[in-house]
Amino acid sequence: MGIGDRFQQETSYRRDDPGQGIEGMLSAPDPDGPHHLLPHPDLTNSSSLWEALRNRRSIRSFTGEPISQVELASILWAAQGVTSSQGRRAFRTAPSAGALYPVETYVAVQAVADLMPGIYYYQTLEHCLVQRSTGDAAQAATHAALDQRFIADAAITLFWTAVFARSEFRYKERAYRYVYLDAGHIAQNAALAATALGLGSCQIGALYDDECNALLGVDGQREGILYMTTIGHPAAQSRES
Ligand SMILES: Cc1cc2nc3c(=O)[nH]c(=O)nc-3n(C[C@H](O)[C@H](O)[C@H](O)COP(=O)(O)O)c2cc1C
Repeated sequence: MGIGDRFQQETSYRRDDPGQGIEGMLSAPDPDGPHHLLPHPDLTNSSSLWEALRNRRSIRSFTGEPISQVELASILWAAQGVTSSQGRRAFRTAPSAGALYPVETYVAVQAVADLMPGIYYYQTLEHCLVQRSTGDAAQAATHAALDQRFIADAAITLFWTAVFARSEFRYKERAYRYVYLDAGHIAQNAALAATALGLGSCQIGALYDDECNALLGVDGQREGILYMTTIGHPAAQSRES
């Protein structure tokens, strides 16, 4: 039996072993680095959810044009922005198993108006970016994703990581199922928001884990890469396909 089959078996809930772990929560990190407050998301866009569902396609050809900071802010908010609070709990656009929110968002800023290219961490609760590094983020994101060339012409690439312990506290090994499901919800929200804004997106699972973790400055154990989403202005031919 391969590791995938064993994982699926050993993380199954059964009536005699529902597998509930202890409760706990680890707060989101507050990393060092210059903080950049984002504009409010633009929630007045008239594109409907139904149109976005119908029009979303994986786009692999971008013009390299920059997106605006409002577009960036709207995509980040759509992915897993805060929509309501109950006491100390902040609920988000995307569901999360046990409302534990283990998935973190990093942005490779490749071409965003008036924002220095580089790697940024998105602080969800504060809706701000924290700069981790500056430099050629387009090349860095491309290399980290098995050199998939089209990524270099996108405007941003989102990196989704998980802080595994945040979910393991409660769900033990089964947490690994849930963090990937959480990431799927979040990435789809980002893709639909991009479509609604007239942008194109492509989900990226083919990535070098160690290179992504090094690029983001995470250790790959406590926090590690799950998934990426690249977004930009679609080139004319990609709109037609
Ligand atoms: C988990 C996952 C990983 C993916 N990884 C890649 C990838 O690394 N590179 C790529 O070009 N497309 C990737 N895709 C996009 C798929 O190829 C695409 O969704 C599929 O061909 C269906 O086309 P559509 O998204 O236009 O409907 C991925 C999609 C998913 C859901």
